[in-house]
Amino acid sequence: MTDQVIINEVGLRDGLQNQPVHVSTDAKAAIADALIAAGVRYLEPVSFVSPKAVPRMADAAALSARLPRRADLHYTALVPNLKGYQLARAAGYDTIALVISTTESFNQRNLNMSLDTALESCLSILAQAKADGVTTRAYVSGAFACPYDGPVPARTSIELSEKLFAGGADEVAISDTIGGGNTRQMKDIMQPLIASFGAERFFVHLHDTRGLAAAMAWVACELGVRKFDASVGGLGGCPFAPGATGNVATEDLVYLFESAGLNTGIDIVGLREAVRLAAAATERPLGGRILKWIESQ
Ligand code: HMG
Ligand code: MG
Repeated sequence: MTDQVIINEVGLRDGLQNQPVHVSTDAKAAIADALIAAGVRYLEPVSFVSPKAVPRMADAAALSARLPRRADLHYTALVPNLKGYQLARAAGYDTIALVISTTESFNQRNLNMSLDTALESCLSILAQAKADGVTTRAYVSGAFACPYDGPVPARTSIELSEKLFAGGADEVAISDTIGGGNTRQMKDIMQPLIASFGAERFFVHLHDTRGLAAAMAWVACELGVRKFDASVGGLGGCPFAPGATGNVATEDLVYLFESAGLNTGIDIVGLREAVRLAAAATERPLGGRILKWIESQ
């Protein structure tokens, strides 16, 4: 099992999609630069979604053009439909993330689609991506709990993941949209999936609403998962998931893994500038537990 952990920074996308204040493209680009300076190499900076549904992502193409392009920098764009896929391709992305939720209600609110239609849409994006040689990551959103219907059985998330892999997804991101999951659920979902598909095909995407994100990440890590999403300073929340607070803070995941001898390549102290910029841009206090502790020393 590798000691290398990939932390995919989703703050610019998940973290900013729901902010009450407008964050300029310049400010987003500066946050990206600060993250990269701290050692972040995987970023999901944008989504190509309806600007009516999510106005904060309306500058996706403009921000994409501002990001440094280097062989060691890996960017993903989230897309909700084929139109988004085409826009992401035009903006130069060769890895795209698609999203489907586990329940009827959440798909309706998030994508204005039934579960069946959302699955058909995902399968058509996956087929197009396969034909184009594009790498795909499918978010299974609400994998632990639905913001509208409550707890979700492990079998539901497992079966949805199986359908996405059968449709050609390269990776699946098991996602706790509202931070409503627990360590037992993580094991119940991930163990059978890893046995069938291998740990290397999974990301784990956690929101830290109730403080269990680090514990759940550790359970996934012990099962072999080495790829995690996180947001600088703990920014975040899905606009269509009431009660969803930010993603687990990037700096807290870095500390979790580095303190256990795993390597993330990210410098916690180096993240301070990105946290400072994100807090200034969103006009709210930010920062994971480890940064607060460092500041107190
Ligand atoms: P709709 O209104 O049913 O779509 O929305 P439509 O096809 O009828 O189009 C309506 C308008 O949007 C049209 O423009 C389209 O051209 C335009 P008009 O003719 O009215 O001027 N449009 C688009 N524009 C730009 N990019 C596009 C696009 N598609 C249509 N891709 C739709 C359906 C799926 C588009 C909408 O519901 C949508 O964009 N949803 C995205 C919602 C979203 O971004 N949610 C947050 C991301 S998911 C998340 O955060 C969870 C995650 O973090 C994991 C977790 O935590 O669980 C990933
Ligand atoms: Mg999310």
